[in-house]
Amino acid sequence: MSREQISDIAHADHPIKSPLNDESVGALLERALPRGDERVLDLGCGTAEWLLRALATRPHLHAEGVDVSQVALTRARQAASGLGVDERLVLHHQEAADFVSTQPFDLVISVGATHAFGGLLPALAAARKHLAPGGRVLIGESFWDRAPSPAAVEMFGDLDDLATTVDRVAADGWIPVHGHVSTRSELDAYEWACWGSLADWALDHPADPAGAQVLETATAQRSEWLHGYRDSFGFLCLVLRQTSDGAS
Ligand SMILES: C[S@@+](CC[C@H](N)C(=O)[O-])C[C@H]1O[C@@H](n2cnc3c(N)ncnc32)[C@H](O)[C@@H]1O
Repeated sequence: MSREQISDIAHADHPIKSPLNDESVGALLERALPRGDERVLDLGCGTAEWLLRALATRPHLHAEGVDVSQVALTRARQAASGLGVDERLVLHHQEAADFVSTQPFDLVISVGATHAFGGLLPALAAARKHLAPGGRVLIGESFWDRAPSPAAVEMFGDLDDLATTVDRVAADGWIPVHGHVSTRSELDAYEWACWGSLADWALDHPADPAGAQVLETATAQRSEWLHGYRDSFGFLCLVLRQTSDGAS
């Protein structure tokens, strides 16, 4: 079974592929979409869950999503069709960093996908190129809530703490107008949903040749989380604006 297929099963009960609950996602979208008729781009959209929620509640919104996972984009298309929003959603199967558009966007979302650009500031630089004047960015990034173990650094790389992360964003010319730090409950719910869904799937498909691989993945990932990064990992979402001339 491919990594994309395993990810698809892991997120069956948590379609937002980031540690946020539905209420937090809704509140961030409210702050990021003040009008309701915006053009929205999601770089690293996964199953386009952020866009689907925005489209389903805002009939005048138009959205585009970019991702390298065909499995995730197929899932997004099916969901968009089920919600009746497919005519307002365009999906692009390509590298997020290579995406170009002739028209700018009022909101650029990139949550849990800054690695696609080589980090937080390069992701913001990419978002900036797509922004219409007065546009907003909704970015989601990991940070160290406490000093990480060497194993955690190996898994997630060299992250900053919360204050340093926000300082770096501000120094790059962005003004945070809203933020959300994932709670311990959101972080735990996400991990349990992912590794629990994989374990459930393996137990529900005992004759499937991929069953053992899926159960092994669930066990290994749950262990990496509990032993490796649960105590140090944090996740932050920011809604960002620039001054009218783009300067800080
Ligand atoms: C943690 S998921 C987040 C998905 C979505 N933003 C969400 O919050 O539900 C990261 C996504 O980034 C995508 N991704 C990773 N590298 C990418 C790249 N180079 N270009 C586009 N998408 C990429 C993955 O396929 C995955 O769907």
